This record gives sequence, structure tokens and C-alpha cells, in this order.
Amino acid sequence: MAVERSIAKRANWSSGFAFIMATLGCAVGLGNIWRFPYVMGQNGGALFLLMYILLTIFICSIPLLCELLLGKQMRRGVIRSYEKINKKFGIFGWLCFITSIFIPCFYFVVGGWTVNYIWIYLTNNVPAGNQAEYFASFAAEPIVPLVMGIIFLLLCAAFPFRGVNKGIEQANNIIMPLFIVMLVFLAGTGLFLDNSIEGLKFMFAPDFSKFTFRTVLTALGQALFTLSVGMGCLVTYGSYLKKDSDIIKSSGLLILGNTIIAILAGIMIFPAVFSFNLEPSAGAGLVFITLPKVFAALPFGNIFGLMFFVLLFFAALTSGISLLEVSIAAILEKFKISRKLATVIMSSIILIFMLPTTWSFGPISNYKIFNMTFFEIMDFTASNILLPLNTLILCIVVGWILKPKMELLTNNVKFYNSFMFLLKFVVPPVLILLMLFGLNLV
Ligand code: TRP
Repeated sequence: MAVERSIAKRANWSSGFAFIMATLGCAVGLGNIWRFPYVMGQNGGALFLLMYILLTIFICSIPLLCELLLGKQMRRGVIRSYEKINKKFGIFGWLCFITSIFIPCFYFVVGGWTVNYIWIYLTNNVPAGNQAEYFASFAAEPIVPLVMGIIFLLLCAAFPFRGVNKGIEQANNIIMPLFIVMLVFLAGTGLFLDNSIEGLKFMFAPDFSKFTFRTVLTALGQALFTLSVGMGCLVTYGSYLKKDSDIIKSSGLLILGNTIIAILAGIMIFPAVFSFNLEPSAGAGLVFITLPKVFAALPFGNIFGLMFFVLLFFAALTSGISLLEVSIAAILEKFKISRKLATVIMSSIILIFMLPTTWSFGPISNYKIFNMTFFEIMDFTASNILLPLNTLILCIVVGWILKPKMELLTNNVKFYNSFMFLLKFVVPPVLILLMLFGLNLV
């Protein structure tokens, strides 16, 4: 009974600011910091950025709006939202639900690594010698990375456990402004290093020779992942919106904020990397190997190191909260259980899957399927198959079946017509192309 009532009385974001901070927290994550700047530098610099912006505006913004629209209209999590269109479509919601287990399985492992690095900088236990060796031996251990991963999982779960307003909203309202201040400070400091201009050149200098058709698809994949499209995060966050909220304005702010943050992340990282003559790279190698080398060489390096890993942790935490909230909101409504129980169930399921992904770097690194470790399989399946597939389904269902009323979106006829045209005829084929690319078929 109490549960029934709590579903009927759905939580609402208490302000527009809270909604922007929550969606920004969801979008800004490891994708912005450890992937975007490098991918931009590798794929033609400013040209890549231009392509990324155009694709975001004309392609990604469409499913992004669809997710918010679906959530705002149905006021339910991802499974019930699809079911409200048609009972049979519940299956599409379940597909999003499965994706929301796949992504945390690898994302939270990396989140655990950030906790470990905060710990070693805080306790002054930074390895003095070879950073690559330290990282490899740490990740290969059976216990420590697992414990760190569990700490990260528990920290993420604590907020949805407390509820939408008291947990998720408060966390983002505090963490995101703090994150932005730290990012601006670190990016500004990096610019004062010798030779910082080389880093800026790596990121921004337009290079036509590196710009190919594959670059376009890489930019598209990056844009969708970083905006958190394709799993129902924005359906779920959108479902806590008040009826009269303007989702077009919010999406615009979200896209703008997310892009500026990704560029600032590059300005924070690459001038420093180049000023110490290190090789730029992406992913774990950049964040856990190259940057500790930079911090070791900088005056007050440990303080900068600590700040950087806290920043990275904040980014991962707010995304982690959104990843968990998708499955929690979905099962809480579907099975009419309490939020607390739903949180415990989902965290336990994710924990079980985190065991093999964590151990992929050590104890079970030799077990491979299609030549990929368990960690790589989860990442590959989620990023290259499930996310584009979910996005495609979303566009088809919203564009061809739900056909959202104009009033829900805008009062501008031209805007609405262009939106529907892109949604029905342009975005789906582009997504199919992206999937073929992800599967190495084009
Ligand atoms: N966008 C986040 C990042 O850049 C990750 C993320 C959170 C995500 N929620 C998502 C990605 C939903 C895809 C779908 O790190």
C-alpha cells in the first residue's frame, strides 16, 4: 500500500537547476575525461570537434529529446514507460534494463580504480618508480581492486537509496558545481606550464589527413555515449520532471555544458602531458599511468594528483548514480517493491557481475571469448551493440508509433516538423550504420 502510494506520488525535481545538475552529472563522466580529448586529438582536432558538434545537434539531440519526452509523458521508469505505449513493448524496456547492468559492470571497476588512486595520493603512498608497472600489478591483484570497486558501488548506491530528492538531487547539486570549479582551476593551472601550447595544438590543430569517414562514426559513437543516450537514463531522470518543464531548453544546456566540460578536460590534461614530453594516449593508460608521471614531476604534484583523482571520482560517481537509478526505478515500479529493497537487489546483481570484470585484469585474464576478456566483452557488447540498438528502437517507437504531440515539445511548427523528419527518416539509418561500424562490418 505504502509502495503503491509512493509510486502514484512521483518525486519531482525541486528546481530547474536540480534537473540540469542531475542530467549533467549523468552525462559528464569517464567518457569526457579519459576518451574525448584524446579521440579529438587523434581524429583531426578542431575538425573532429566541428563534426562532433554538428552530429550532436542534428543526430544525437533527437534521441536525447525522445528519452526526455518519453519520461516526461509517461512519468515512469524505462520498463513501465515502454509498457504504457504498448504492453508488448515492455521487452524494449527490459533491453535497457539489461544494458544498465552491463555498463556498471565495467564502469564501476574503473570507478574503483579512482578510489584507489585517491587513497594512495591521500596517504602519500604514490609509487615512486614505474607507473605502468604499479598500475598493472594493482589491477591484476584479486582483492584490492575488488574492495575498491565495492566501495565505489556502495557510494553510488547510497544516493538512489535515499531517494530522488534527498539522495540523487542533493548529490548532484553539491558535486557538480564543485567539479566544475576544480576543473576550471586545474585547466587554468595547466596552461601556465612550459610548452603547454604543444598540448593545445595536439587537441585543436585541424588536420585533414586524419579526418576520414571512420572519424565521423567515431564522433557519433562518442557523442551518444557521452550524452548518456540509449539506456533510459534520461527517460528515468525525465520522469521526475514537472509537466510544464521545457525539455528543449534543458537539452540545449546539457549539450553545451557537456561539450564545454569535455574540452576543458582536454585543456587540463594535454598541455601537462606535452610539457613533460610524454606520449598522449586514451583510457586507463592516460589517466592511471601517464598523468601520475606528470604529477610526479610537478611541484606540489601530490596535491594536484589528489585533486585530479577526486575530480575523476566525482565525474564517475554522478554517472554511476544515474546508471543505477535506471534499473532501480524500473524494478521498483514493475514489482511494486520499496526503493531501498530495489537498490539492494540491483547493487547485489551488479556486484556479482563485477567479480569477473574486475578479475579480467589478473586472475582470469587468460579466459577470452572472441579474443576479448570479460571486461572487454561487457564494454564491447554494451557500447557497440546494446546502446545503438536501444537508441534505434527508441527512435522507431517514438517516431512511428507514439508520435508525440507537438505541445509536449514546442509551440514552433517548423521546429516540430524538422524534429519529426530527422527522427523518422534520418536518425534510424545513421544508427544502423553506426552499429555496422561498431561490429567492424563497414
Ligand atoms: N555519459 C557517461 C560518461 O561519459 C556514462 C554514462 C552514464 C552513460 N549513463 C549512461 C553512457 C547511459 C551510456 C548510457 O562517462
